[in-house]
Amino acid sequence: MPISFDQETKEFHLYNNSLSYSIKVLYTGSIGHVYCGAPLAPHRAHPFLSLAASGGVFHPDKNTARFEYPAFGTGDYRTPAFALQLPDGSTVTEPVYHSHTVYAGKPAIPGLPALYTESTGEADTLELKLFDALSGLRIILYYTIFADLPAIARHSRFVNEGKEPMVLRKTMSLSLDLPDSAWRMLSVSGAWAREFQIVENPLVSGFQGVRSSRGNSGHQQNPFLILKGPATDDSCGQAIGFSLLYSGNFIAAVEVDCYGSSRVQLGVNDENFAWKLEKGASFDTPEAVIVYSGKGLNHLSQVFHSLYQSKLVRGTWRDKERPVLLNNWEGTYFNFTEQKLLAMASVAKELGIELFVLDDGWFGQRDSDTSSLGDWFADTRKLPSGIAGLAEKITALGLQFGLWIEPEMISKKSRLFEQRPDWAVGVPERSRTEQRQQYVLDMSRREIVDYLFTIIAKIIASAPISYIKWDMNRSITEPFSIGLKPDRQGEFFHRYILGVYDLYERLTKAFPQVLFESCAGGGGRFDPGMLAFAPQAWLSDNTDAVERLRIQSGASLVYPQCSWGSHISAVPNHQTGRRTALSFRAMVAFFGDLGFELDPTTLSPEEKGQIMTYLDFYKAHRKTFQYGRFFRLATPDPAFYTAWQVSSEEESLVGFYKLLARPNHPPVRLPLSGLDPNLLYSVSLWEKGGFEANDKNYNCGLRGGDELMYAGLLLDTTHIAKQGDFFAEVFIIKKTEEC
Ligand code: DGJ
Repeated sequence: MPISFDQETKEFHLYNNSLSYSIKVLYTGSIGHVYCGAPLAPHRAHPFLSLAASGGVFHPDKNTARFEYPAFGTGDYRTPAFALQLPDGSTVTEPVYHSHTVYAGKPAIPGLPALYTESTGEADTLELKLFDALSGLRIILYYTIFADLPAIARHSRFVNEGKEPMVLRKTMSLSLDLPDSAWRMLSVSGAWAREFQIVENPLVSGFQGVRSSRGNSGHQQNPFLILKGPATDDSCGQAIGFSLLYSGNFIAAVEVDCYGSSRVQLGVNDENFAWKLEKGASFDTPEAVIVYSGKGLNHLSQVFHSLYQSKLVRGTWRDKERPVLLNNWEGTYFNFTEQKLLAMASVAKELGIELFVLDDGWFGQRDSDTSSLGDWFADTRKLPSGIAGLAEKITALGLQFGLWIEPEMISKKSRLFEQRPDWAVGVPERSRTEQRQQYVLDMSRREIVDYLFTIIAKIIASAPISYIKWDMNRSITEPFSIGLKPDRQGEFFHRYILGVYDLYERLTKAFPQVLFESCAGGGGRFDPGMLAFAPQAWLSDNTDAVERLRIQSGASLVYPQCSWGSHISAVPNHQTGRRTALSFRAMVAFFGDLGFELDPTTLSPEEKGQIMTYLDFYKAHRKTFQYGRFFRLATPDPAFYTAWQVSSEEESLVGFYKLLARPNHPPVRLPLSGLDPNLLYSVSLWEKGGFEANDKNYNCGLRGGDELMYAGLLLDTTHIAKQGDFFAEVFIIKKTEEC
């Protein structure tokens, strides 16, 4: 059991072969943080680390102690992990150690997404119970350590065992006091069509971090942050990653104090948050995950990938190869007829595409984004035989059929709004802000979630639908629910997300064979919370292959490539106006769940031929492209090159992307990762990429794993420069039996 407790020192040690996490009961009864990082010897006590946890010899006071779940108002002036108001108006509590239990496995969190285990040997859990006798506040800190991964999952439960209601105002999922601040912080920032741009800064004194107050996790920032050592890169060095399994308002922040220690916190954003905890009631925070890597950022990312791929995503589609799809959005936007869709679908079938997805515009009278959200019945002007008729015709062609919905929204111009204007989020008597000409339905109200379940379930049951794209195209404004009493309005945002999770849970349970894809105008709610329900997500409305290099690289910090939709679209690209070769677009889109976002009836015979070849190649290597270990390869010149590698047991595929051509550039050396140095590999270039086999001379043939990793592929940029801008190659590296 990798969780030990030393009765004498009162130290808990959670450990496995790649991680140690140690905490202790301090002499005051509160919990101190001792250590988080590379594994410590399990059989020894660590008195020096313990001393440091309680404030050390230099500044032995509460403001220098390292706390595991710091309280407010008793001498620690850094930001607390929780804050609440007691019935008498006071805000001071002193929860101290009460008891603990350790058990095999991992508990679920009611109503919230969480990592899970399938056998008890996969993980062990520590429940640490704290109690504030005066108020009756009980806090339970949950820690799960995974047997084979350097990862700890944490969350907290608040229970009111007092006599009167209390109000929770801040409830972090984790708080972690690191002894120093010699870290650089990685996070992502962005906007619509510009998601997942990596931002790196050194930690500085004071407060820093990312947050959302939009009601969704947002295009702008993502609920994670990574601390890395100053010299850490993708392939070496220390890093600690923190990720929150939540889709609503979040905060992920670090406070560096006057002694240079760093307090990391992740949880529900406490701005506008207030949760009334009745006598006997409890509140669970979302789950947060800590991952440690002593082997660089790729390793850190891969640990997140395997956690999210196999211990978060659930259901039939978890390990299944995802179908290649055609989505009609960029091909037609709102302007289509059944005839047009069938024409597109039959070319799609000819090309080797497997799933046809009908996007926005099929319901109500939706000829633009100004109307009809909420009117979930087929527009018979466009679809005379309805969704069922269309779906049957599409499936008769030998394709699966998928449908777009945006259940959380309501248009002012809709039948639903005429009947239920009070279902939209907003403050009565005040004006509501429209975004994309639409309002948000109040998902905190049970009757609305029930209604949506009935109506969406009816649509899915009415036709052979095997895929649902669930979109969400605006954030929340004027947060208020007429379903909540005045003293419960601070619960609105969290209750909204609980309502979304509830609807997802009910629909995915009712239709276990359906593949759900989440979407929020692209990556506006691309987070681990959504992945617990929808195994994949539309990463960005930006389908430009050059832009996707950056977006997919950023997403890969935490999210596995099988979780992101990656589509080939037409040129000039609809978001950037850029023209790139079909081969370049394909080689970028291969890394993820491949799809198409264009009108295939407009393709030339030559383009159709190319696409058929691409699909044969993708399908032959689909398992590796979607589920292989993903590496961001070291790039000598990131402004000009990007390179990715995916590796399965049998093969590795390497995508090399050159952006702008430069003459007479020195050759690029591209060391690969994750191979066996003792084995020989056969290296070949995917011939259909649309280039000559010049690189073959250097790189192809039988090559040692050692040589490929330590010396690398040599990319002849003199040759490549002559190929013009935006040039890509894919190498296939197969394991041989030879040494
Ligand atoms: C935003 C999505 O990201 C697009 O793919 C498309 O589904 C539109 N919404 C439809 O309104």
